[in-house]
Amino acid sequence: MNREDFPMLKHEIVYFDNGATTLKPNAVKEAINDYYENYSANAHRGDYKISNIVDEKYEQTRTKVKQLINAKEDSEIVFTSGTTDSLNLIVNGYFKQNLKKDDEVLITYSEHASNILPWFILAKEIGIKVKYIELDQNYEVTIENVEKVITPKTKVISLAHITNVISDVRPIKSISQLAHKNNILLVVDAAQSIAHTKIDVTDMDIDFLAFSAHKMYGPTGIGVMYAKYKLLDKMQPRNYGGGMNAVFTKDGYIELREIPTRLEAGTPNIEGVIGLSAAIDYINKIGIDKIHKYEQELKKYLLEQLNQLDFVEIYNKKAQGSSVAFNIKNVFAQDTSIYLDKYNICIRAGNHCAKILNEATKINNTCRIVLSFYNTKEEIDLLINVLKNIKNIWNEIL
Ligand code: ALA
Repeated sequence: MNREDFPMLKHEIVYFDNGATTLKPNAVKEAINDYYENYSANAHRGDYKISNIVDEKYEQTRTKVKQLINAKEDSEIVFTSGTTDSLNLIVNGYFKQNLKKDDEVLITYSEHASNILPWFILAKEIGIKVKYIELDQNYEVTIENVEKVITPKTKVISLAHITNVISDVRPIKSISQLAHKNNILLVVDAAQSIAHTKIDVTDMDIDFLAFSAHKMYGPTGIGVMYAKYKLLDKMQPRNYGGGMNAVFTKDGYIELREIPTRLEAGTPNIEGVIGLSAAIDYINKIGIDKIHKYEQELKKYLLEQLNQLDFVEIYNKKAQGSSVAFNIKNVFAQDTSIYLDKYNICIRAGNHCAKILNEATKINNTCRIVLSFYNTKEEIDLLINVLKNIKNIWNEIL
């Protein structure tokens, strides 16, 4: 669908690496260009017309994000540089102040590094305990396995909505009900789900949410951190400086501004916010349900085709997300990726920053295809034809 909107698709490439980043439609490029050509000023600082336009567009984007995830207030939306930044802000800005030694945080082996390392560092700094929810035989989280590992000391459950390798969709609403029944806060990493399925933070009752614009057709370097107002209001800024203070005096007295302004010190990534705004409009124009349905059909087709190749090992056949993790038997994942690149087919190979997933799967590296609505059955057919000739791999890549 909508392939003509993506300038990158004019090049002869098959782009299947949508979990790493998505391609950008013209609408995003044009919105950023428009900012630089027609109202290029700073935000929240000027009293002249073009700076007012920036303020309006910047704050309208906050409203659009609020609507996208069905948050209650604009002020619950904080702009960050991406999912990693958002998760670090959640851990350091909120939990560092609100957890104590021996409090327990539950994650899984299949989380991305950004939802593991900040917790490890917090464990070193204040003595919290990081514990793992056991994965089932399909490497998925079940509500029974979450329940099993909760203790009176459990204070946080921090999970990806859809994981970046296995692509399993976590039952967030049930997990949040269970969490809240036990006075546990729920952090959700939506990096791999925001472009593929509807997220409703109110219905799912999510306490903290993180995602990036560049995985949803927007620019790199801009992301979102959502938190319920009462939690956000207790969050410590990580940066102090311009824009976020109301008053300060020479003796060190500081009064900070309201939420979310006090969490966005310094000149923000204005072009990023404007690009994100265009990306949200673009997704809304197509419709997330239509995107979801199309990607699911395409994924089914991809699985059917890959299943016919007896030299392909698939690791996530049961997963509901829009990606497939696989290997060619006896071929190192990166070699497969280099081979496919000879035919301009872009996939990702490696551990995908999920470096402890191998504790569960016993597999170190995989090839990963993450589908988008601009992918087609013809592209999958091409992939399959190229894979059928993989016996030539050593002639072609050495
Ligand atoms: N986190 C991104 C991925 O999974 C980069 O590929």
